[in-house]
Amino acid sequence: MEIIKKMKEANAEDITTYCIPIDFQGKKLGRLRPITVDSLTNNTEIEMITKWRQNNQQFFTTQFNVSVKGTKKWLENAILQSNGRILFMVENEEQIPIGHVGLCEIDDKNKYCLFDNILRGDTNYFKGGMKLACSKLLDWCFRVLDMETIYLQVLSDNSRAINLYKELGFQEIQLMPLMNQIKDGVTIWVPVINQPYYEVKKYLLTMRLSRSIYPK
Ligand SMILES: CC(C)(COP(=O)(O)OP(=O)(O)OC[C@H]1O[C@@H](n2cnc3c(N)ncnc32)[C@H](O)[C@@H]1OP(=O)(O)O)[C@@H](O)C(=O)NCCC(=O)NCCS
Repeated sequence: MEIIKKMKEANAEDITTYCIPIDFQGKKLGRLRPITVDSLTNNTEIEMITKWRQNNQQFFTTQFNVSVKGTKKWLENAILQSNGRILFMVENEEQIPIGHVGLCEIDDKNKYCLFDNILRGDTNYFKGGMKLACSKLLDWCFRVLDMETIYLQVLSDNSRAINLYKELGFQEIQLMPLMNQIKDGVTIWVPVINQPYYEVKKYLLTMRLSRSIYPK
């Protein structure tokens, strides 16, 4: 999508134009700043994103030895070079980053996408900021990207995230049993297929929010 491409190419001069404001009752509280090509030279930011992922591995379906080099490669290859993906830093009114929120599998034709990499990295600022950030991202998906349906997948024991998503209107639609596979030091939780006697310890919950039930 053109808008996503433009956001990723924004430079320091025009980045503000491409930020999504986080306001509440008319008060500006922060913003969603897109990760751009320029971010690849911002080592402080890459180190921060790396630390945040290191501190929250248990909430994701892939667990691995997170490194600054690996994070930079991920931002470059998986986020910036993908037309169907975008990541935003969540910042408070002083532009202090507190976390990130993103979208993946953005499908312009079938009008759906997935919430991706929703993560609070710093708990010292902007209480309530992640819920507001997710709410503004939803608004943007429906009003700017013209999406019809937003999906997300979350580990079923992640009650804090599930409660936040329910408060935003997401509904549970599927529960998938998972099993872990370890390869080259990477643990990946994958769907259990054709293993009727496998003792399942983890489940992946899929949730959905349709434009039809989203408050106008
Ligand atoms: C899921 C996650 C992003 C939610 O973040 P969060 O910090 O709970 O969400 P918010 O920023 O909306 O803050 C909520 C807190 O602010 C408080 N709050 C909400 N509005 C507020 C306001 N206007 N004023 C003051 N406090 C407020 C809430 O009571 C809650 O307080 P608590 O932390 O004491 O419970 C976070 O828990 C996280 O990053 N988890 C690890 C990664 C993860 O699980 N990601 C999702 C994978 S699918």
